[in-house]
Amino acid sequence: MNRLIALTITASLCIAAKAADRDLPVYRDASRPLEERVEDALSRMTVQEKINIIHAQSKFSSRGVPRLGIPDLWCTDGPHGIRPEVLWDQWEQAAWSNDSCVAFPALTCLAATWNPDMSRLYGTSIGQEARYRGKDVLLGPGVNIYRTPLNGRNFEYMGEDPYLASRMVVPYIQGVQQNGVAVSVKHYALNNNEVNRHTTNVIVDDRTLHEIYLPAFKAAVKDGGAWTIMGSYNLYKDQHGCHNSYLLNDILKKEWGFDGAVVSDWGGVHDTDQAITNGLDLEFGTWTDGLHAGASNAYDNYFLAKPYLDRISKGQAGTDELDDKARRVLRLIFRTAMDYTKGEGEMCSEAHYDAARRIGDEGIVLLRNKKRVLPLRLDGPKKKILVVGENAIKMMTVGGGSSSLKVQREVSPLDGIRVAAGNTADVLYARGYVGDVTGEYNGVTTGQDLTDNRTPDELIAEAVALAAGADYVIFVGGLNKSAGQDCEDSDRRELGLPYGQDAVIEALARANRNLVVVNVSGNAVAMPWVDKVPAVIQAWFLGSEAGNSIADVLFGKVNPSGRLPMTFPVALADNSAHAAGAYPGLKRADSNIVDLEYKEGILVGYRWHDTRKIKPLFAFGHGLSYTDFTYGKVTADRREMTVADTITFTVPVTNSGAVAGAEVVQLYISDPKCSVSRPAKELKGFAKVFLQPGETRNVSISVGKDALCYFDADRHDWVAEPGEFIASVGAASDNIKSTFRFNLR
Ligand code: GLC
Repeated sequence: MNRLIALTITASLCIAAKAADRDLPVYRDASRPLEERVEDALSRMTVQEKINIIHAQSKFSSRGVPRLGIPDLWCTDGPHGIRPEVLWDQWEQAAWSNDSCVAFPALTCLAATWNPDMSRLYGTSIGQEARYRGKDVLLGPGVNIYRTPLNGRNFEYMGEDPYLASRMVVPYIQGVQQNGVAVSVKHYALNNNEVNRHTTNVIVDDRTLHEIYLPAFKAAVKDGGAWTIMGSYNLYKDQHGCHNSYLLNDILKKEWGFDGAVVSDWGGVHDTDQAITNGLDLEFGTWTDGLHAGASNAYDNYFLAKPYLDRISKGQAGTDELDDKARRVLRLIFRTAMDYTKGEGEMCSEAHYDAARRIGDEGIVLLRNKKRVLPLRLDGPKKKILVVGENAIKMMTVGGGSSSLKVQREVSPLDGIRVAAGNTADVLYARGYVGDVTGEYNGVTTGQDLTDNRTPDELIAEAVALAAGADYVIFVGGLNKSAGQDCEDSDRRELGLPYGQDAVIEALARANRNLVVVNVSGNAVAMPWVDKVPAVIQAWFLGSEAGNSIADVLFGKVNPSGRLPMTFPVALADNSAHAAGAYPGLKRADSNIVDLEYKEGILVGYRWHDTRKIKPLFAFGHGLSYTDFTYGKVTADRREMTVADTITFTVPVTNSGAVAGAEVVQLYISDPKCSVSRPAKELKGFAKVFLQPGETRNVSISVGKDALCYFDADRHDWVAEPGEFIASVGAASDNIKSTFRFNLR
């Protein structure tokens, strides 16, 4: 009987709820199509309410429509982890005790995995952390192309090749947005250096823009379905990226069909009329009351706030653009803050630490390994390992600019090595050099006291003395996210390592033949000592699990499978942005604008090195393994194709070594006889394959017409010219194993 009563009550509650649903206004009814909800909400809003939702109300939030029960929208940095809470109108952290996060590896490391599955894992994990913290928009990922190795923010981006960046950004976006959190793919576009970032006017030809600098953003929109795009600080065609009609209206919204919201970079808006008409939808971070920079709580004076409302009131502006902006912001709110199915997310879970470690493990690149010094062998008598370098102990998750984090934990390289070695080795430490002893950003401090007043000679002498008696010496150096050393709002001034590290490395190489250099950076660095050092690892900024990932590779728990997402030049002048003298640009006589012409055009990175035959220190796509891979001859399923066809290349790859490992098979396409000049070859496909010792896999990569095209600026379209093409398959851009010639009819 009770069961019958219970069922009756439940049924009547469902009927009541259904009836209540019928009374729900359309915009609140999640079962209704998104566009219906948007139009219904818009129709109920006043002009003032529409103005309210298209600009910030605090440092990281914009207003909803309280009268309609439409919530505020909350944004957070950044691409590598969820920024600590800040006070309403401050950059400084609010010093909460429960907003520490997991720091995932920097996006250069993610790109270096060449594994889209890692991107999906990354996006899912960081999206869960954002959801748990109640954030609706994650201000990342960044996909600006690596044009110069001096750019302070390259560590936040995905390297020099538009195809690699395009393939790696899409799963990250899908992973984040499946949590009901929007990404904000940044910085659109042409923000390729930090010096003069607010005043640089980039001059670049249309073909280069479309072939090099836009593809990753286009993939983010058309394949990734990004819900927001962040405009860039710099100018292009003399308009700031945050209200740039060609980039935002013509390309992003009209050509690509972007239905999301364009968010300004913080302080990137400079003009009300341009902000109204040139495609901006949501203004953040403007530091002005219209009169003086830096006024706090000046939100009503934002360019899209009272000034916009005044123009409408005086009949100087219509409301069509306002409605379009409001529609896009409402769509964003319904996709995020008003998506009641999105779950609770999770924060600082062991699953997230595991994800961070796996991405780090797969992104570390073994650059050099003469005499197979690596992996370090701990069998036999107890070993003595000397670790040298400030980067072995210095926290790297604090600093670097807006991607700086407050972490729950960060395993240093020294700690990771000590834990991994256990009691099989005595692990000693020597400072080696003193770099940057500070450790604070927006009120978050590392708590480390790195003070060391010894002279460089004393520091080197100590390290050399200890090195002499060690079985292995591991130097951990590189850059450190301090100003001018891989940091937002500043570029490096040289390619070489700072703080006298080269001298330390040279001295250690003389003192011990088993020297391993671990370079922690988001950029290429010069390595004048490379021939004297048997083993070199590129270790990126790896976040919370840094020391564990580095130790995993050093001791062979993980067989390194990372591949460089950018070229390491021998010297700065070998890089195309510097060879052509096109950096950092020329300041105009009559204004603070700096004109920066990308004179190298499409020849960025390996495209330049291959075409100009300039041998790099380490090539794009380079990375070694603890095993060996042998390739058979590449074949294809056709010799002839039309633009309607795809062609599938297949190459047998064998793990001919003694341990399991992963190989990244890379496919480059050349168009040797084209009516326009084209790079020697361009990456158009890749596949990462995990092989057991002795295992052979037939690796297939298919491409269509897109892989053969160049952008014809006159026709404003992509063109594949009939004729012969060459497919080159290999393990790096400078390590081609075999080629296949085919014809496009
Ligand atoms: C910064 C950065 C941007 C960041 C924003 C908010 O200046 O350019 O990447 O998301 O402001 O901190």
